[in-house]
Amino acid sequence: MRTVEVTGELQEYLNRLVPPRDPVLARMEDEAEREGIPIVETHEGALLYLLVRIAGAKRLLELGAAIGYSGIWLLRGTEGGSLTTYEVDHKRAERARANFSEAGLGKQAMVLEEDAVNGLQKLEGKFDVCFIDLLNSFPSEDVTRQVFDLCMERLDAGALLMADNALRQGEVVRPKNQQARVKD
Ligand SMILES: C[S@@+](CC[C@H](N)C(=O)[O-])C[C@H]1O[C@@H](n2cnc3c(N)ncnc32)[C@H](O)[C@@H]1O
Repeated sequence: MRTVEVTGELQEYLNRLVPPRDPVLARMEDEAEREGIPIVETHEGALLYLLVRIAGAKRLLELGAAIGYSGIWLLRGTEGGSLTTYEVDHKRAERARANFSEAGLGKQAMVLEEDAVNGLQKLEGKFDVCFIDLLNSFPSEDVTRQVFDLCMERLDAGALLMADNALRQGEVVRPKNQQARVKD
């Protein structure tokens, strides 16, 4: 079977296929690049938008808001839906709120400024989509498993669970790699 390595060049190519973004997203892309803030690639944002739209989802859950970039893509995929998103970093949470407002989504986005694992244990209600984008920060496979279980509890039947970097840049198929965060 032929394999395709997703190089930076290929990412650039895919990003160029996405139509020009509005000023809010374009500014956020520049800021993330300049400041080294880890946001999804442009083409991944477009995919999130598309998946939410295809699913007809309204109630969105996200773990790891950063400055709200993926959250804007997710919310724009809904028809007047709502997003609950966790961000433990105070400055990023503030920036995410400001960015959601500037994008006209301030009333639809709730940025919860706390550790997502703690927060999920208190969270009520059901969701149609969950996007997990903080797994690299987890210290052990137990916590990784716990996060997935907690998310599953919040999802309705037929809901969509998405996780960034689940393949660990290909590390999952390298048998020598014994790191818990990869094995799990
Ligand atoms: C990869 S970034 C999220 C990027 C964002 N989803 C986007 O694409 O625009 C991960 C974010 O999760 C936050 N984070 C890491 N561990 C967390 C935790 N346990 N609870 C809440 N937020 C956390 C980090 O501060 C960071 O801003």
